[in-house]
Amino acid sequence: MSGIVIDGQRESIERELIPAERIQARVRELGAKISADYAGDNAPLIIVGILRGAVVFMADLIRAIDRPTLTIDFIAVSSYGASTKSSGVVRIFKDLNESVEGANVILVEDIIDSGLTLAYLLDLISRRNPASVRICSFLMKDRPRENPLPPVDYIGFDIPDEFVIGYGLDYAGRYRNLPYLGVLSLTAAE
Ligand code: IMP
Ligand code: MG
Repeated sequence: MSGIVIDGQRESIERELIPAERIQARVRELGAKISADYAGDNAPLIIVGILRGAVVFMADLIRAIDRPTLTIDFIAVSSYGASTKSSGVVRIFKDLNESVEGANVILVEDIIDSGLTLAYLLDLISRRNPASVRICSFLMKDRPRENPLPPVDYIGFDIPDEFVIGYGLDYAGRYRNLPYLGVLSLTAAE
């Protein structure tokens, strides 16, 4: 039996979905695309990470973007906690440190599931008069949605509708440090 047992539940990594090397190659492509898309634009470019899931992706992404004036900021919102289902409730725990007025903003998300977090944050930031707002998500889940998604300009990978962990994504706060993306399996421990 592999994995760890916590509170009578066995957590194990069922399979690797995206290996670390593929992730790194894709992040370099996204960085090159973003560098080219904003090359002729002199407005400040602020990369806004949505804590905590986007941290690992964002750390690699910003190093793949070639732009001397790039700055970063973070916003913290509520997550699933120890559940694997979206509650539909978005709460701001930490707001941005800087103003986004007149700046080009790229919102960096770990994964778009229901899209509720994103729709909420896009609206919040748009009301602060940025020059533009785009979305960059490491993952996009392939699933039916009740509410239409806002346009997502940069997507790392489209994945099936399964609960994934690693490369910043967590289950109950764990597994963010895995360099690859895996599918989590939960079973009752003997
Ligand atoms: P949404 O509001 O339903 O789109 O959920 C977005 C947030 O839920 C993400 O930023 C993640 O923190 C979390 N989430 C959604 N799906 C997964 C998953 O498969 N694994 C880990 N976290 C997830
Ligand atoms: Mg999370």
